[in-house]
Amino acid sequence: MSQSAALMMSQKQIAARVLVQEHLAHEHLQAMSSGQDVGAQKQRIKCLLKQQDATLVAHYYTDALVQELAEETGGCVSDSLEMARFGNHSLSSTLIVAGVHFMGETAKILSPTKRVLVPTLEATCSLDIGCPAEEFTAFCDAHPDHTVVVYANTSAAVKARADWVVTSGIAVKLMEHLASEGKPIIWGPDQHLGRYIAKQTGTEMLLWQGSCIVHDEFKVIGVQQLKQVYPNAAVLVHPESSYAMVEIADFVGSTTQLIKAAQEMPNKEFIVATDRGIFYKMQQAAPDKMLMEAPTAGNSATCRSCAHCPWMAMNDLDKIEQVLLFGTNEIVIDAGLQERALKPLQRLMDFAATN
Ligand code: 13P
Ligand code: SF4
Repeated sequence: MSQSAALMMSQKQIAARVLVQEHLAHEHLQAMSSGQDVGAQKQRIKCLLKQQDATLVAHYYTDALVQELAEETGGCVSDSLEMARFGNHSLSSTLIVAGVHFMGETAKILSPTKRVLVPTLEATCSLDIGCPAEEFTAFCDAHPDHTVVVYANTSAAVKARADWVVTSGIAVKLMEHLASEGKPIIWGPDQHLGRYIAKQTGTEMLLWQGSCIVHDEFKVIGVQQLKQVYPNAAVLVHPESSYAMVEIADFVGSTTQLIKAAQEMPNKEFIVATDRGIFYKMQQAAPDKMLMEAPTAGNSATCRSCAHCPWMAMNDLDKIEQVLLFGTNEIVIDAGLQERALKPLQRLMDFAATN
């Protein structure tokens, strides 16, 4: 990547951080002002879901109340791949996608005849922000012989420029498959996940320099200090974390894979380097295990989101009730763009169905 492109990328990351700080200040006010009776509110939402023929699909990083509601109403709580799969197979005419914007878009691209509503249109992702379609297209156009593989955490327009879409749950398998074709590869936008996959598969890839502001903040030094107190704890790391974190991990994997690892590994204690929203399902899956957040503090730490995605945190019961009542925040995608973005996404779904 050229120096000016790299500079632009870091400016985008700074802009993403400013957005996070603004949101964190706002979130505090929201929490203060919400005085609802949760039980009664959940009952109202359950009735609205039925009335509207709607299903709630939630990511592991959303608030535990949102995840619980999805479970209680026959919806789904999962990683981004399973959210896409579940939404696609759902018989409901409306999907309420509690996660971030690209997850709503993915649902709409796969199921264009369904109505897709999101609790808030403002819930974005630093990877999506850091990979504007025009610049990414120019980057790809400069390397026309490369196969373009993009992470699901991207806009519909970026997906439309790709040959393949992947999620962290299937990235290594898919990249092994692509490596066997012997074509050079462009990977975007998450540089850390890209570096991890490249090392795992021995594939050389041109990496877009995006990163996740949440996973970027986990600190090796903090984990090492915690390990002195809990020497038998296993370290579970999502591959959006820095490669230094990956190197000290006992297990690296997507959100679903991390939950499975906590359940299946013999350790009684776990240090978990991913968004803390995952603890709701992880503790359910491994009730007798002790789960700890991997530290985001420590030497030279600049923790702002502190192991919790500020955009995932925007999903709450108030907003879900509002969109069900008023049909607001619908995801709309231009038909041509939907068709172009569907191709690489459908490749992912077909590959996932047979691997
Ligand atoms: P998963 O695909 O593992 O759900 O991750 C999505 C994400 O945004 C992680 O930060
Ligand atoms: Fe994006 Fe990171 Fe939030 Fe996941 S945790 S949605 S990658 S900002």
